[in-house]
Amino acid sequence: MKRIICKNYDEVSLLGAEILAKQIHKNPQSILGLATGSTPVGMYKKLVEMHKKNGLDFSQITTFNLDEYYPIKKSSDQSYDFFMRDNLFSHVNIKPENIHLPNGESANPEEECIAYEQMLAESGGVDIQVLGIGVNGHIGFNEPEDELKLATHLTNLTPSTIEANARFFKNIKDVPTKALTMGIGTIMKSKSILLLITGGNKAPVVKKLFSGVVTTDVPASFLHLHPDVTVLLDEAAVTAENR
Ligand code: F6R
Repeated sequence: MKRIICKNYDEVSLLGAEILAKQIHKNPQSILGLATGSTPVGMYKKLVEMHKKNGLDFSQITTFNLDEYYPIKKSSDQSYDFFMRDNLFSHVNIKPENIHLPNGESANPEEECIAYEQMLAESGGVDIQVLGIGVNGHIGFNEPEDELKLATHLTNLTPSTIEANARFFKNIKDVPTKALTMGIGTIMKSKSILLLITGGNKAPVVKKLFSGVVTTDVPASFLHLHPDVTVLLDEAAVTAENR
């Protein structure tokens, strides 16, 4: 794992956007794996700026998002589908048919997961997968459990994730309790991974992530087994002992 400590959230966002832009320049037909949540919002803003000011071209880019709540309507402003349109897709020249998210409206979530995994495989695989990390160590919605699932699956969200995500909803009772998520194996198949970690609330999980073990208690720790992971952290997420 390559660790880069940035001064603050803005620096993480800029560097993250530069890494993605470099990938897009290197291969204009890149397959990007994308995440939602608060952490990548600044990075998406910078990518939109790069598109508007410097013509960063998304016309041949394909995207696969990590996860989506289940069940949820795409039109709901809490869906990840809405989030991605709002933060990135509506502001750049990506083709709608090249955008993929697990379908939170599917009547058959098990079939949806198999189809999503197949589409990913047929695409040739993700070139760079953007990840955030949950305060409990989850990546995507692979929550700490005795066993982690390899492939895309329907999962139950833990109380700590429901609590953390309640900030996006009027009432904690409105937070969906399930999600469709790429599995740990799906994520590990990406050719490279960009993990963004910002904010003091992530410092305890950063400490666990760099404690020198791989454990299903911290699903992100499996990333230590991937040959090409870059972790961008801000100062707030890193305590003195983790430097
Ligand atoms: C989002 C996702 C989640 C988030 C994580 C951190 O698509 O898969 O794993 O990356 O919950 O969320 P934030 O960035 O809001 O702290």
